[in-house]
This record gives sequence, structure tokens and C-alpha cells, in this order.
Amino acid sequence: MPEINKYAVMGNPVSHSLSPRIHQMFARQCGIALEYSAIKVEEGNFSDAVIQFRKDGGKGLNITVPFKLEAWQLSDLRSPRAQIAGAVNTLKFDGADKIFGDNTDGVGILRDVTANLHKPVMDAKILVIGAGGAVRGIMGPLLEAQPASLHIVNRTAVKARELAAVFSKIGPCTGGGLDETGTGSYDIIINGTAASLYNKVPDLPASIFTAETLVYDMMYSTGPIPFLAWASEHGAGICSDGLGMLVEQAAESFFIWHAVRPDTKPVMQALR
Ligand SMILES: NC(=O)c1ccc[n+]([C@@H]2O[C@H](COP(=O)([O-])OP(=O)(O)OC[C@H]3O[C@@H](n4cnc5c(N)ncnc54)[C@H](OP(=O)(O)O)[C@@H]3O)[C@@H](O)[C@H]2O)c1
Repeated sequence: MPEINKYAVMGNPVSHSLSPRIHQMFARQCGIALEYSAIKVEEGNFSDAVIQFRKDGGKGLNITVPFKLEAWQLSDLRSPRAQIAGAVNTLKFDGADKIFGDNTDGVGILRDVTANLHKPVMDAKILVIGAGGAVRGIMGPLLEAQPASLHIVNRTAVKARELAAVFSKIGPCTGGGLDETGTGSYDIIINGTAASLYNKVPDLPASIFTAETLVYDMMYSTGPIPFLAWASEHGAGICSDGLGMLVEQAAESFFIWHAVRPDTKPVMQALR
């Protein structure tokens, strides 16, 4: 019997991850036999865990918090979008001894916003809140889609300014503190902070929303998301959690590994 190709997501914590279910659904849809597991890795053991997985016949990995930076460092070759992001969420092992690293988070959110939520990014005025690993991954693909402007704000303002300086090579990008959102409203607002995980809402003025604004929180949860509830109370027209981004980034990883693009709609419906 041929050996089944092995894939996994590595992180800590990781037991909550929906990636095994998503990849199994994609595999069934595409008629591909694979095994996909969730592996909890202790901090300090990441590179050993990757090497062991590969020795055991693993073909590819998704990487989640807190190892995306270490995955970047471990990659021998990187896609341009992973290179600038400084973070890797997809590893591919080929027959050769090189490890290829990519970052599919940005493509994931871009597809969800434009194809699933039908909000154009081209010429949009975008506000991104947060300056952590997830935001680093989405900046390049968002700017490549040619928004009118992209402003990043963060609780620690200096981090937003530093990110804006890095990504302004790609497109119009500025950065500042949470109190520097300016006076106008935005077409698209993306919460990429971890605030929702702690039931907190970043301290922002409600003047950033209009009835046409798409408000997107990268977090996904079966319960209410505080930032989206607050935005909706203050007049935001369209609100979305990050489940679509999760499924779309997984589809891009699937494509990198299997050269087949799965249909994400039925998978999103099943998870909802
Ligand atoms: N849907 C998806 O596929 C997907 C993919 C990746 C990540 N995510 C989600 O994205 C979120 C961020 O993840 P990450 O990896 O970027 O985390 P991270 O690297 O730890 O960054 C955390 C960010 O949140 C800010 N923050 C934390 N608590 C805050 C608060 N109470 N008020 C305001 N800002 C606060 C931090 O600001 P400071 O710099 O001031 O500390 C920092 O900018 C998480 O909810 C994660 O689940 C979703």
C-alpha cells in the first residue's frame, strides 16, 4: 500500500486549531489521500520538532503562534511575500534538503474581503489596527492590491511606525498610535490585534466607521467578537470575523503543497 503523505499544524496552543478539519475537507473534495494532525510544540523545541516531522516522512507544515518568526528563520528559501513579512505560516519539504517557507495569511484575507465579502481593496482607504505577526503577514498583499491608502495604528505606536516604514516600499503606508486615526472614516477597517482574545476593544474613536465600512476582525469564534459588536453599535455597516481568512489561507497552503486549488465555499459553510 502506498504511504499516505503527512501534513500538520504546529503551534502552542494548537488543540483548538480548525486546520486539520479544513485540510481533510479539502483533501476529500480533491480526491487526495493525506494525514493532517495538530502538533503542540514546547517553546525552544521548534526546529527539532520540524526536523523530526520531516524525518518521519512529513511533506509540509502550517505554523501558528508563537513560531511564525522561527519558521521564517528555519526556511532556506522564501517567497517574496514571506521574505518581507518576516513571518512564515507554511513550510514545504521537497525531495531536496531545502525547506521552502511562505506566508499565506495576506492572500487569505485579501480573498475573503474581495471574493467572499465583495469589498474592493483597490482605491479603498484602509485602517489596520495592530502591529504583531498577523499584521506583518497581511501588509504586503493588501498594498499590492493598490488601496488609496493604508494606515496602521497600534497601542505601541513605534511598532506601527516601523512597520509602515518597511512596507511603504510597496505602496502608500503610514503608521501611528491608536489616537492617530485622523479625522475621517475608512472603507475597510481590519482589527489584527489580540485584544478580542482578552475580551477587550482597542481604544479608538467611533468616527472611523460609516454605514459602508467593512469592519473585519482577524479573530474567529463561535461567540460574539467584542470589536465587531462595538463597531456595529457605532454604525459600521458590514462586520466579519476571520473564519473566511482562515479557510482561504489554508486553501493557499493546500495549493502550495498539492498544486490544486480547493473550493472554499462548502468548507466555510460546514464550519459555520
Ligand atoms: N483568521 C486567521 O487566519 C488569523 C491568522 C493569524 C492571526 N489571527 C488572529 O490575529 C490576532 C493577532 O495575532 P498575532 O499573531 O499578530 O498576535 P501578536 O503578534 O501577539 O500581536 C498582538 C497585537 O495585538 C496588540 N494588542 C494586544 N492586546 C491589546 C489590547 N488590549 N488593546 C490594543 N492592542 C492590543 C499588540 O499591541 P502592542 O504591540 O502594543 O503589544 C499587538 O499589536 C489574533 O486574534 C489571532 O488569532 C487570525
